[in-house]
Amino acid sequence: MKQSILQVTGLTMDFGGIRALNSLDLDVKSGEIVALIGPNGAGKTTFFNCITGIYTPTAGDIFLTPPDSSKKISLKGLKPNQVTEKGLARTFQNIRLFAKMTVLENVMIGRHCRTKAFVFGAIFRTAATRKEEKSIIETSYAILEKLGLAEFANEFADNLPYGAQRRLEIARALATEPLLLLLDEPAAGMNPQETIALDKLIKKISLDGQAILLIEHDMQLVMSLSDRIFVMDYGKKIAQGTPAEIRENPVVIKAYLGEEVDA
Ligand SMILES: Nc1ncnc2c1ncn2[C@@H]1O[C@H](COP(=O)(O)OP(=O)(O)O)[C@@H](O)[C@H]1O
Ligand SMILES: [Mg+2]
Repeated sequence: MKQSILQVTGLTMDFGGIRALNSLDLDVKSGEIVALIGPNGAGKTTFFNCITGIYTPTAGDIFLTPPDSSKKISLKGLKPNQVTEKGLARTFQNIRLFAKMTVLENVMIGRHCRTKAFVFGAIFRTAATRKEEKSIIETSYAILEKLGLAEFANEFADNLPYGAQRRLEIARALATEPLLLLLDEPAAGMNPQETIALDKLIKKISLDGQAILLIEHDMQLVMSLSDRIFVMDYGKKIAQGTPAEIRENPVVIKAYLGEEVDA
């Protein structure tokens, strides 16, 4: 049995009178691709916002356990940058890149959480800083190459085609060397070719052993990628299982009847 990297229990989030998350349990194990699905407004993005420190959950626990350790790290109460340092990195439903920075610089920013006194060193240009900067650039380039973005390295991020911008967000998240990569609707707005390329890319990232938790509406993509699927509706978990189990689950089918599914 593989060890859980992420363990969330009883996660609850109230916005005024609205219970956006209702005692949710979810776990992701080492090397897995797990999908979190559900109709619009189910609470999926709120779940990401709660586990990444953007919102403080009303109740519940969030633990991260590095694969080579038995020590659980509680993420509750940490700020987003601290959560990233502990090993959770994410992309956003709506692209958030530094538009007027180059593609390479966008990835280098991701690296900085794994490096030392960058600002101080950048002012005084010590030998150690130059060495560190060189290593940041090399690592960032390697990530760009892996994600098929090396040709764009010196372009401004906002000059990239849409699909490439979405890949760049993944590149920046990967640059933080996450224990778990969180993707919020990575295929949103993509054309069919871009979605097929994304499917391949996520599988490639997973082959390196990267654990991934993915929110996605494109059911074909979800079924193709996932080891396990969690289904939410109205802030509650209504089902969990393998793609085959979820496809057949009457409760899931009912929850989706009210809305169009990209099948
Ligand atoms: N900051 C907020 N303030 C108030 N309500 C919110 C906030 N964020 C999300 N919600 C509400 O929580 C519910 C779940 O939203 P969301 O997590 O974005 O759903 P999903 O990502 O599954 O489409 C919705 O009813 C939404 O209006
Ligand atoms: Mg959402």
